Amino acid sequence: MKLTRAIILAYSLFASTASTASTAGAAVTQPQSGGRAFTRIAFGSCAFQWEKQPVLRAVVASRPDVYLSLGDAIYGDYDGEKSYPVTAESLQREWKVLADNPDWKYLSSRVPIMATWDNHDYGHYGAGEEFPLKEASAQIFLDFFGEPDGSERRRRAGVYSSGIFGPEGKKVQIILLDTRTFKSPPVLAQRPEGSGGSLGKFAPNVDPEVTLLGSSQWQWLERELQRPAQVRLIASSGQIVADEKGMDEWGNYPLERERLLQFVAVADGKSVLLSGNVHFSEVSATTVDSVGIIDFSSSGLTHVNKVYPQAPNRYRVAGPFVDINFGLVEISWAETPEIVLKAVDVSGHTQFEYTVP
Ligand SMILES: [Fe+2]
Repeated sequence: MKLTRAIILAYSLFASTASTASTAGAAVTQPQSGGRAFTRIAFGSCAFQWEKQPVLRAVVASRPDVYLSLGDAIYGDYDGEKSYPVTAESLQREWKVLADNPDWKYLSSRVPIMATWDNHDYGHYGAGEEFPLKEASAQIFLDFFGEPDGSERRRRAGVYSSGIFGPEGKKVQIILLDTRTFKSPPVLAQRPEGSGGSLGKFAPNVDPEVTLLGSSQWQWLERELQRPAQVRLIASSGQIVADEKGMDEWGNYPLERERLLQFVAVADGKSVLLSGNVHFSEVSATTVDSVGIIDFSSSGLTHVNKVYPQAPNRYRVAGPFVDINFGLVEISWAETPEIVLKAVDVSGHTQFEYTVP
C-alpha cells in the first residue's frame, strides 16, 4: 500500500511539473482504422535514445503505412556503460531525450506509429509483473506514443493494442503484445560461474502456473484473432519461434509459446509474427498441424551484437543480418495476398528477403 502511494505520488509530482514527451515537439500519430489498403509496414527495436538514429530516415524513405516500435525504444535503465535504478522522473527524462532526437522527430512527424515495450523501455532489465513502477511507466509510455486520454488502454493493465486497417477484403490486423506487465519471473539457467551476457541466461519453465501474457491479455488476444482480417501481423518484443538462445524469449514459457502458435495456426487469413530484442535480424519458420508459421525478427536500430547470431536456431530460414536494420513487411494484394519480408539496412538496401509461403 505504502509503495503504491509512493508511486502515485511520484508520478503525479512529475506529471504536474514536466510536459509530456509527446508534447515536446515530437508528437506521435497513431494510424487510423479503415482507409486504403496497407502495403508496407515497417518495424524496429533496440535504440539508444541519445545516439543518432539514421536508420529511421531509411524507414521514412521506405514510405511505410505505419511504423511498429517493438521495444527498447529507449534504454531507460542503462547509460551506455552501466545499469542504474530508475524512477518515474528518470524514465520521463529519458523519453524526453528520444522526443528531442532529430532522427526520431523526422520519423514521428511523417509516419504513424504503434508501439509496445520490452524490458529497457518498461524500466528494468529482465523485468516482469514484479516491477514496482509498472503503472507509472505505462502512463509515461502511453503519453509518449500519443494514447488518447481516457482510452480503454489507459484504464487497464498492460500496453497491448491492436488495429484493423484497410477496406473490405484487404484488411490488415496489427496486434502488439505486451510481454512485460504480466510476465512471471523467469527461471535462470544453470551455467558456469562467471559466464555473463544474455545468451543462455534463462531456461524453459513448464510450470502451468507461470505466464508471459497473463489471463486478461490471453482472453483479449483470443477475441482479436476472431475479428475478420486477410493479413494479421502479431508482434512481440521477444522472439516467438526461435527458442534456443536462452535469452528473453517465448521459449522460456514453452506452454504459452505452444498456445500462441496454435492460436495463430487456426486464425483466418495469413499471419506473420514479428519480433525484436536480439540485436540482429533473421526469419524463423515452423509448422503447427501442417500450417506454416513465420517469425520475422528485426533489431537493433543503433547497436547490434555479433555473438547472438551464432547461437543455434534450427528454425532459421533467412538471415542473419548483423548490422543496424529495420524490418519491412510488403503486401501485394492479389487473389491471396503475397507477403515479402525484408531486412533493410541504414542505407535503405535490402540485405535479405523472404517470401512468406
Ligand atoms: Fe534491446
